Parts: sequence; structure tokens; C-alpha cells
Amino acid sequence: MTSSFDAAPFIERRQRFAEAIGDGVAIIPGAQEAARNSDVNHEFRQGSDFFFLTGFGEPDAVAVINPSHAKERYVLFVRPRDREMEIWNGRRAGVDGAVSAYGADAAYPIAELDDRLRAYVIDRPAIYYRLGNAAFDRRVIALVEQGRLARGRGIPAPARIEDPGPILNELRLRRSPAELARHRRACEISRDAHAEAMRYAGPGLHEYEVQAALEYVFRVNGSPRNGYPSIVASGPNACILHYTENDRRMNDGDLLLIDAGCEYGYHSADITRTFPVNGRFTTPQREIYELVLRSQLAALAVAQPGASYEAIHEAARRALTEGLVALGVLPRGVEDSLAMHHYREFYIHGTGHWLGMDVHDVGDYRIRGASRPLEPGMVFTIEPGLYFDPERETATYHLREYREDEMWERRLRLGVVAAKKLEEDEKAKAPKIEHPIPPAFRGIGVRIEDDILVTATGVEVLTAGTPKTVEDVERVCAEAPRLPRR
Ligand code: GLY
Ligand code: MN
Ligand code: MN
Repeated sequence: MTSSFDAAPFIERRQRFAEAIGDGVAIIPGAQEAARNSDVNHEFRQGSDFFFLTGFGEPDAVAVINPSHAKERYVLFVRPRDREMEIWNGRRAGVDGAVSAYGADAAYPIAELDDRLRAYVIDRPAIYYRLGNAAFDRRVIALVEQGRLARGRGIPAPARIEDPGPILNELRLRRSPAELARHRRACEISRDAHAEAMRYAGPGLHEYEVQAALEYVFRVNGSPRNGYPSIVASGPNACILHYTENDRRMNDGDLLLIDAGCEYGYHSADITRTFPVNGRFTTPQREIYELVLRSQLAALAVAQPGASYEAIHEAARRALTEGLVALGVLPRGVEDSLAMHHYREFYIHGTGHWLGMDVHDVGDYRIRGASRPLEPGMVFTIEPGLYFDPERETATYHLREYREDEMWERRLRLGVVAAKKLEEDEKAKAPKIEHPIPPAFRGIGVRIEDDILVTATGVEVLTAGTPKTVEDVERVCAEAPRLPRR
């Protein structure tokens, strides 16, 4: 519980959510503790939808939003006060605090949830609840089953479960000025941490030592936790997209790819920078780095309000492909390599994602089949990369055109296993070219990622100032670290 809790933004969000659900009733569970071993838990972080509506950070809580109830329109179910448990595990607001500090119309111990829900859903046509929460689904399904019995006896009860996701996703997708201030701070802190990591890294250090310096800057600037586990990937580890072991000792001549962002005020930054551990790019490293940078800037250049989200990926993959053709990596010309997606041998991921309370944030990318236009207040990443597996000496290029959106759609329709089998069949039928991967590039992995806000007139790079040109990166790498090294 915090005396500085400002209820106003949460009241406003609940109001907008309540308008959207009308005479339905919403059941929004918070996150549960997850056991690591015996009685030790993983770090707890409240669920974003629940926090967005309540501002309540404790585990094991559920919000009920019931706009047509006479008195209890916003109810919190929480862990009750318990002196012994609070001595062991931390303070609790309890039912009184949930009302007095967090503004609930009523609050009850979490153990009363099922019984009270039975009464709350009477007369409501729909329950808004996001199915897919293994610990909780059966309770909501039981409510619907009881509703069926009740209807048989003439008592109106809900027959439908509606997903509140589309409503909440749209509310979360655009930043308010207050949300933007927190998001901006997450980006600034992360920017400063990446710069210190560049100063701090050096041959002979372990990846986790650089991680410690980076995360020290997060914490000391007021970020209580990361937005996601830091990826500190040196040398060949940079080719593993979600590498998080972070335990390799770095060599002279390695590149170091760091993908890390802090959380501040429940908003996450998401920055990737790649730099030479010894402070100077080799010629092949520089060639790949500058190519990824050109791609990132090309994508940034098409981002503006009204532009389609997909135009960003289109610009990024075209620039990457042009560069890979010019470097002799791909066997065909630019248009063929794009139509046949040959660049996917080295660039398998998308060019970005929404960014907000969660690093891969909520919100649809396509609406009724069409790529979504960017709108002021949206925040997303631009993060092209190239990854040359150290073990691969040649690549096989199939001479077959296809569309990426159709590939994804088919995977959704048929399931990944069946769709991939079809893809393999189509590849097997297509003519192919074996082409060597230039030895100088093998083992190089580069990604460059910034966080972009759409404004009324253009875009703003929230992570601007994180060293990015070759000159800036090498200059900052050459500076003395501000934190002590062993
Ligand atoms: N840090 C995860 C990502 O960039 O998508
Ligand atoms: Mn990202
Ligand atoms: Mn990232």
C-alpha cells in the first residue's frame, strides 16, 4: 500500500472500460506467484491488464468491474491482512486498504470470490473474461454452468464469455501524456545503461559482468525491474535471438549484442545495440553493422502517422536485401531475393512490435486483413538484424516466390506442423541454388533496436542518444567506464 497512490488515472481507465462492456460483468485476475523451488518464488510482477485497471500491485487479487451494479461497480478481491504472513512475505493492503487506498467500491477476501461471483453475474448477459489462464478458467466455466441451471429456473444469468482483450488492448495501445512521461523515462534510463555497457565491456570480462553494470544503471535511476531478461550475447551467442545465459567470457575481436530495457512506472523500454568488445569494429563487422543501420534508418524514414505498420518491415527488408546482394551473400538480384525471401536465411524475425506495459505489448497489427495505420500515441520498436550462424558454410536458396502474410495465415489456419510440412514440400519441388556464406561474416550477429513514438506530425525516437553510428559507438566504447571494474 502506498500513501502516494494516485487513483485518478485508474478511475478514468475503468470508466472507459466500463463504457465498453455495458451491462456485462468483467472478471480480471491479477498475476499469481510462481514457485521457483520449495517456498521461494520467482520475482513477482503484477499482470499488466490488472494493473492498468487497478494500480494494485499485490499477488493473488481479482478485480470485478460490474457497471450496472447498484453499489459495487468496482470490487477488489485481495489477500486479507495477516500479521504472521506479512512478517514473512510483505505488507498487504487488505480489504480495508483496497477500499480506502485503492478506491474500490467494496473489497473482500480472495477466498470469497467464487461465492460472490455467483451473485454478481445474475442479470448480466455476458462475462468478460480472458480464457487461457489455466489456474482460473475452470472457475469462470463453472459460473457459466451454474448460469445454465439458473436460467432453467427462470433466473437470468450469463450464457456468454466475452474476451475483454480487444477492449483493453485498444485502451493500452495509445499512450496518454502521463503514461508517455513514464515510458520516456524508461527509455532514457535504458539509453544511459547501454552507453555505460559500451564503456564497461572489455576482453576477458564475462557477459554477466556487463549485465551487472547495465542493470546497475537501471536500478540506481529508479527502475525496480527489467522489462524482460537482458540478452548480453557476445561473439557467436549474438546469433541466438533470445540468448539469456550471459555467462561467456568475451574475447578480443568479438562483437557484443545487448538487448535490454528497464521498466519504469510499469512501462518497458526495449533497446538493442551491438558493439565491438575491444572498441573497434573489424572491416566485416563494420560492413554488416552499417548494413543493419541503413536498414533501421530506412524503416524509420517511412514511419509516420497514417503509414501502414507493414511499410516499416517492407523498408527494412528491402534495405537488408540490397546490402546482402551487394556484399555477394545472396545469389540472385534484389527483386528475386525479396520475392523468394532469401534474406530470411539471415533475418528470420519481424522488424518490430508494439511496446508499452509489456515488451511485446498488446494490440492488433492488422485490421480486417489490412495492415494497421500508425496513430499518434502508439509506441513500437524498429529492430532489424542479421545473424550469420558460425557453423554454416553454405545456404540453400529455393527459387520459389511466396508472400510472408500468406505463410503466416496458412500457419494459423493449418497449424504450424502441417503448414511447415507443406512449406517443406513446396521447397523440395522448387529448383535450388547452393551458395557459400562468406567466411568473414560467419559468427557475426548484429541487431539495432530503437523505440519509436508516433506523434501528430511525425515520429520521435524515444531512445535517441543511445550511441548508434559507428563513430559514436567507437567513441563511447573508448571512454573510461563510470562504474568500477574488477
Ligand atoms: N527484447 C525482445 C525484443 O526485442 O523483441
Ligand atoms: Mn523488441
Ligand atoms: Mn529487444
